[in-house]
Amino acid sequence: MYDLARALLFQLSPETSHELSIDLIGAGGRLGLNGLLCKAPVSLPVRVMGLEFANPVGLAAGLDKNGDAIDGFAQLGFGFVEIGTVTPRAQPGNPKPRLFRLPEASAIINRMGFNNLGVDHLLARVQAAKYKGVLGINIGKNFDTPVERAVDDYLICLDKVYGHASYVTVNVSSPNTPGLRSLQFGDSLKQLLEALRQRQEDLAVQHGKRVPLAIKIAPDMTDEETVQVAQALVETGMDAVIATNTTLGREGVEGLPFAEEAGGLSGAPVLDKSTHTVKVLAGELKGRLPIIAVGGITEGAHAAQKIAAGASLVQIYSGFIYKGPALIREAVDAIAALPKN
Ligand SMILES: Cc1cc2nc3c(=O)[nH]c(=O)nc-3n(C[C@H](O)[C@H](O)[C@H](O)COP(=O)(O)O)c2cc1C
Repeated sequence: MYDLARALLFQLSPETSHELSIDLIGAGGRLGLNGLLCKAPVSLPVRVMGLEFANPVGLAAGLDKNGDAIDGFAQLGFGFVEIGTVTPRAQPGNPKPRLFRLPEASAIINRMGFNNLGVDHLLARVQAAKYKGVLGINIGKNFDTPVERAVDDYLICLDKVYGHASYVTVNVSSPNTPGLRSLQFGDSLKQLLEALRQRQEDLAVQHGKRVPLAIKIAPDMTDEETVQVAQALVETGMDAVIATNTTLGREGVEGLPFAEEAGGLSGAPVLDKSTHTVKVLAGELKGRLPIIAVGGITEGAHAAQKIAAGASLVQIYSGFIYKGPALIREAVDAIAALPKN
């Protein structure tokens, strides 16, 4: 059935089809209909970051930036849902067009630039949702906040979302906000993580609960840089790492229409690069921090590969656009079939 829906949606521009899909998934969620559209995944509960996940396959950030369709996505079978990236203030994002399909490669290029309605809108949507499962809220900075003051924006968002999130993701890896990725390195990274960890401790006392903090990184670092990030995460006491965001590379899409558009590439071509980052992290972290793997999962087997590489959970974005909700069940089945260790 998704093949038919996809054929219709792909007639529209990528962004129109995105907006329509969010509306439909949101409406289906409010009516409680989405569970009827697809067979539920097998039950595969997992405990990570001290949280109970219904299954290890989640929705990646960026699809539901404003939290408009939380119930709808959860009903499709995701074991957890991550919304955002949200910024303190609403912002329009980059000029359109800014979203491109590369169907020959099961890939997407985007330079959305954190278009979102701001953290207050997102929180209103979270409060309106009925979903009781694991909800991640992914936070970022406004495009016009200087990168030297980025920490202020992350703290504003953390303060606001803390009481409403199961975990909070610190996004320092979008390629579409100038300067953002510089926060992944050296002293900038340490200072940001220390400030966030301190605030997390304060908020834990205020709210009487500890909400885990995850950091989302890019696949475009050298192994040495990835190892340095892992060390900083352990030193500062972060709770998890999400690997990875989109890539600036164009391997696997050379010569295809839109391949030269500026932005981050996601989907099948990022699979190996992203899984490599997971392996490097796993080698350094040795289980001290869980890894949430995202990037290029378009078949169940890819999700199982990510777990075998050292991840505890996976997330999907582009594969969901190309394969639809059946991919969620396929991924859960493939993970369930892995030998237990
Ligand atoms: C159109 C689009 C928008 C995205 N927006 C965000 C975002 O706001 N925040 C974020 O952390 N990741 C964002 N991502 C990255 C995805 O969450 C994911 O990390 C990346 O696409 C790799 O996974 P995939 O190959 O399954 O798509 C976005 C991806 C796409 C395609």
